[in-house]
Amino acid sequence: MLIDYDPTGVFLERGGIRRDALAALGPRLAAARDEVLADARLWERGGPVPVEKEPLDTRFFELPERLLAEFASNGPASELARLRASADRLAQAVDSVVVLGIGGSYMGARTMLEACCHQYYNEVAAAMRRGRPRMYFEGNNVDNDALLDLVRLLESRGDRWGIVVISKSGGTLETAAAFRVLLRELRGTLGREAKSIGELVVPVTGTSGKLSELAKALGCRETFPVPDGVGGRFSVLSAVGLLPGALLGLDIERLLKGAAEVNEHFRTAAPDRNVVLQFVGVCHLMEEQGCDVRILSTWGKRLESFGLWYDQLLAESLGKQDRGALPLTIVNTRDLHSRGQQHQEGKRDKLITNLVIERTQGDPLAIGRSDMDQDKLNELAEKTLPDVMAAAIAGTNKAYLDDGRPTATLRVPRLDEFTLGQLFQMMMLATVVEGRLIGINPYGQPGVEAYKKNMNAILRGKAID
Ligand code: PA5
Repeated sequence: MLIDYDPTGVFLERGGIRRDALAALGPRLAAARDEVLADARLWERGGPVPVEKEPLDTRFFELPERLLAEFASNGPASELARLRASADRLAQAVDSVVVLGIGGSYMGARTMLEACCHQYYNEVAAAMRRGRPRMYFEGNNVDNDALLDLVRLLESRGDRWGIVVISKSGGTLETAAAFRVLLRELRGTLGREAKSIGELVVPVTGTSGKLSELAKALGCRETFPVPDGVGGRFSVLSAVGLLPGALLGLDIERLLKGAAEVNEHFRTAAPDRNVVLQFVGVCHLMEEQGCDVRILSTWGKRLESFGLWYDQLLAESLGKQDRGALPLTIVNTRDLHSRGQQHQEGKRDKLITNLVIERTQGDPLAIGRSDMDQDKLNELAEKTLPDVMAAAIAGTNKAYLDDGRPTATLRVPRLDEFTLGQLFQMMMLATVVEGRLIGINPYGQPGVEAYKKNMNAILRGKAID
């Protein structure tokens, strides 16, 4: 397990929690873990699922191990190999791919791009992308101008492009509407080309539903499943995230291996050494004493999308029955200049969890010496940007500690497919464990239906009841 969790900064005299309170929570944390493990076994056995447990979308848990085992035994016929082959085929055929999806159907893929690829991935020359296509995300809104601008961009460059459309239900209006518009545009670009539209569109969807039907009608060469029992925001390590990941040229097997390692740790480590359970325990105890704003403070630019993915995971899973902590992702040092004031001196309702990547991917940049020392930086000439970042992290934590502001830190040695897989799995497990701990079903999102019902009624000229 490469992720380290250090909660030292929450053990405060005033406004924090006590070490013995966290230790005392151990048996309840272990019981919540056992319930998550039992839920998974129940699903695998085929139920029956007690009514109070419905829905029970627990199948995300062992998905990494299952996909890896199937890959080992079935080779080229396995889902993992077919995902790679499909991604390679599409990557050969197009310059750009538009990934359509909303919520859990796109946030994980966007995280992969931001965390593991060149920071200017879509701008760099194809060789720097190792021949992989540019990637754009749409179908996550109904923003007319954004979609129009994307079409114009693709048109202006004369790109060959394709679509990966992802929707578990197959009926989400935002995604379906963008798909229809883009299909029209894509058809227009094909002209007399021999290629059929079915070669340029790869759907990821449930085994039945409107999108599945449309995929058949379009003659899509490949369609990938969102497995039953895997909820949208828990689906990042299924084809939902793995297909875009493979299109980006990422090592999707490593993503799964990282997640599988977290599973092993989660199953076997004692509560006081279990990173998932310790993280849940601290969040829970802090919330019980009024700290219900959970700030994920990411240091550096690569993990903002991961934070937004986590915001959705926590909000949609536990924001139920008039309860649920408020997740908020920040990116430092950027947001020290926008939100820092409030975190240092505002209402005492926040738990700050730092997410720190220890090693940069590229060589450290030194500040360096200059003949023009008006900025007085020569005295820091030997320092590198990672040195400045480390000082900012330590300085900020010290300032919070001095004022009794609780902080904890998640540390990851480096950011790559393996550790990203670990982070995804850790947060999904933490969310379901916390749900079981506090008696909230983390699966399903009944509250999202209300707006959809009203929107559809308004569009169809029906009365809203
Ligand atoms: O977590 C969830 O289930 C949701 O966020 C869904 O992912 C989102 O609503 C999109 O749904 P669908 O994939 O059915 O289009």
